[in-house]
Amino acid sequence: MCGIIGVTGTPDACEVLLAGLELLEYRGYDSAGIVVADPEAGTLWRARAAERAGSIQRLRDRLDEVPATPGAGVGHTRWATHGPPTDANAHPHIDCTGRVAIVHNGIIENYRDLAARLDATGHKRTSATDTEVLAHLIEDEVEAGASLGEAVRRCLRAVRGDFAIAAVHAAEPDLLVAARRTSPLIVGKTETVGVVASDVAAALATTRELYALDDDQVAEVRPGAIVVYDLDGVRVEPTRIEVAWGVRRAMKGGYPDFMSKEIHEQPQAVRDTLLGRIGSDGSTEIEELALSDEELRAVRRLVFVACGSSYHAGLVARQAIERWAGVAAEAEVASEFRYRQPVLDDGTLVVVISQSGETVDTLHAMREARRRGARVVALTNVVDSVMSREADGVLYTRAGPEIGVASTKCHLAQLAMLETFALHLARVRGALAGDELAGIAGALLSLPDALQATLARADEFAAVAERFAEVEDFYFLGRRTGFPVALEGALKLKELAYVRAEAYPAGEMKHGPISLIEPGAVVVVIATRSSLWEKVMGNVEEMRARGASVVAVADEGDDETAGLVDAVLEVPSVIELCSPVVNVVPLQSFAYTVARARGNDVDRPRNLAKVVTVE
Ligand code: G6P
Repeated sequence: MCGIIGVTGTPDACEVLLAGLELLEYRGYDSAGIVVADPEAGTLWRARAAERAGSIQRLRDRLDEVPATPGAGVGHTRWATHGPPTDANAHPHIDCTGRVAIVHNGIIENYRDLAARLDATGHKRTSATDTEVLAHLIEDEVEAGASLGEAVRRCLRAVRGDFAIAAVHAAEPDLLVAARRTSPLIVGKTETVGVVASDVAAALATTRELYALDDDQVAEVRPGAIVVYDLDGVRVEPTRIEVAWGVRRAMKGGYPDFMSKEIHEQPQAVRDTLLGRIGSDGSTEIEELALSDEELRAVRRLVFVACGSSYHAGLVARQAIERWAGVAAEAEVASEFRYRQPVLDDGTLVVVISQSGETVDTLHAMREARRRGARVVALTNVVDSVMSREADGVLYTRAGPEIGVASTKCHLAQLAMLETFALHLARVRGALAGDELAGIAGALLSLPDALQATLARADEFAAVAERFAEVEDFYFLGRRTGFPVALEGALKLKELAYVRAEAYPAGEMKHGPISLIEPGAVVVVIATRSSLWEKVMGNVEEMRARGASVVAVADEGDDETAGLVDAVLEVPSVIELCSPVVNVVPLQSFAYTVARARGNDVDRPRNLAKVVTVE
């Protein structure tokens, strides 16, 4: 969380910083701020604002005060951890002299000790953030004679925690110093400009010549030049990043918001993800996986580890792996997995699922799994993300950049990729006959068309959602593949519409939650045809008998289901294990419509951030 941007070597520094912040707002939007060096005056110019979605505009309003020929500058968009979202806690933070400025993403875990030491030696801190200690630590090092680069290296040796930082100093007005540990940061350059950013999209407007930094590397970025050191000051070579898409893919492209754009990009995201990986005869090829067929045959157990919507994708994947490949599989939330001392061995394959490839709980879970001897594969949408670089193998989705905070197209692409992987495992291990493999491959390859047909019903979904826009309590029910869909539908509604939405396995309601059902309750049920359809409908009857209204996700033209419920969200029929890819779409639309009807910002829901880089 929190977005960082920095630039040097352009008279448009402030414009570049603000445009970068707009692209990074998905990482947090509690406040925003920029600093640029003023080489003529030998000072720093700073503007900060804490006005949620309006912060960047407030910074724009001050552009007439900007130095005429600015030097290096840094900008930040914040998701508050230490200290409430106020102007004083907004980044960049400066030292006592006003000559050092720093922006930071992550948490400085030992900041209390560091702050106590700084306070005791007379430093005056003006914010409640953990970040500000870094500005004062750098101040001390510079006072002792260090250059900005050396000062940052020395101060980071004293710091515990996860961070990405970028700093400027009034005395070296062309220089940006950037460093990271766990949290992401990339650097880039043209012949005349240097840039630093939390993600590729924000840097792409300036250059395609981009480099990844590894943990504890410190980059000195000057106009047209990047030099990288480790914390001991030894020079190292950064890794070049290849980017396959342009900055336009991170724009709204005529849609009212990123979420609706990304919902409509889902057929393409799934098509691109499947491309070249599945043949209609059931053949499969996953290049980047980097595990040989022999290694895949030796796997005795799979564990999917992830957070949020990615975890829901893992819950579907475990079912596909068990049923198609016949391998024991589990799915677990990363923040729990990491701390429960999981029993893993070299027969266990851990698949971490993370759209961003940088969610800190998932990253630490992945490191823990490797420490315990498991092979690790990372499924991510971001090439060269921290996770893809650390894993033994990768599974890439090809959804393009996802900006809306609530995951949509990336979730669907994850499902498609995981099912492709399950099919691959089944084939390699000889778990299914040729015609069975071909049948599943055909079902997967038909998903983009099924999604197109589903989206053609978007107006119908919106009309149903509008009828329920005032409701405050929802229950989402499903069985087997329907349960992860129910979880995802409820999560979307909670995070976007801010209404209570509980998801349960349909058969579990009678063990407690059914006591909450009374007239006025709304139950959304996944009721597409499967071997469990009758049991699902039995549970629906139990809800209706107690006065609940029922909305069902049902197969197109299934009049029997429609006759048993109050409203239907119709979708094309696909085989049961592929059905989550299609069934989740009307629930995305449902949450979108209810959220908009309530006046909520669907791209920037309150209290959330797209990329969660704190525990
Ligand atoms: C945040 C986002 C979710 C996402 C989750 C996991 O909570 O708001 O949309 O599912 O993080 O993110 P990841 O990048 O690891 O898939």
